[in-house]
Amino acid sequence: MGMDKDMDLIDEDGLRLDGRKFDELREINIEAGILKRADGSAYLTWGKNKVMAAVYGPRELHPRHAQDPSKAVVQARYNMASFSVPDRKRPGPDRRSVEISKLMSEALEEIVFVEQFPRSAVDVFVEILEASAGTRCAAITAASVALADAGIPMSDMIASCASGKIDGHVVLDLGKNEDNFGEADVPVAIVPRTGKITLLQMDGNLTIEEYEEAMELAINACHEIYDIQREALKKRYSTSIDSYEDLEEV
Ligand code: CDP
Repeated sequence: MGMDKDMDLIDEDGLRLDGRKFDELREINIEAGILKRADGSAYLTWGKNKVMAAVYGPRELHPRHAQDPSKAVVQARYNMASFSVPDRKRPGPDRRSVEISKLMSEALEEIVFVEQFPRSAVDVFVEILEASAGTRCAAITAASVALADAGIPMSDMIASCASGKIDGHVVLDLGKNEDNFGEADVPVAIVPRTGKITLLQMDGNLTIEEYEEAMELAINACHEIYDIQREALKKRYSTSIDSYEDLEEV
């Protein structure tokens, strides 16, 4: 965002660099329950993003002074692997990952029935293995599936997607170049069943009309993503009973 523009992001046919239409998502695939040691997990690919989410808990929260006697604390940790971006990412937390971890924790706490688990922690680890714009949305989407896979009591999942503005047009789900050279990026997350917005950020500038268009695009896409999330869970739970591998180490 805000970088000097040195490339066209939309061609004469009205298509984007990767051939997408304005309201088209990158391809999303989600597989639930692929880590044996975690209570719940999900692996998600979204365009060129590759994301692993693992959930542990609810379990007793340590240190004890961090416990909340009235509810569980959802602790999300977003981490970018060193090899996930073109310039090696310095390992460990930085401002950006601390911010994303916080907004993820706040969003996910909206859906988990935290009152049922006082003094507990629900830990959510998200590892970005390959990053190519939109990783916070990918992280929330994957984490929600991992929470459901863990069987943690929750009201719904959260689906997340960004929209934005490139070459003067409002479009869905910015890719890497669009993110770098576009005019605005608006990550959104919702609880699909209620429509409640649990994440809304804006990098760049939009008019009110553009903002409304961007919200509509992102919210519609969240419902599409929600279907993919539910399919991943259905697939997981329609095959696991037949699978000896899953039963072996119980
Ligand atoms: O990933 P997301 O769009 O949620 O967050 P961002 O801060 O807008 O980052 C956009 C993209 O910049 C990331 O998805 C990465 O592809 C890239 N990035 C990077 O190359 N190196 C970093 N240290 C951080 C981000």
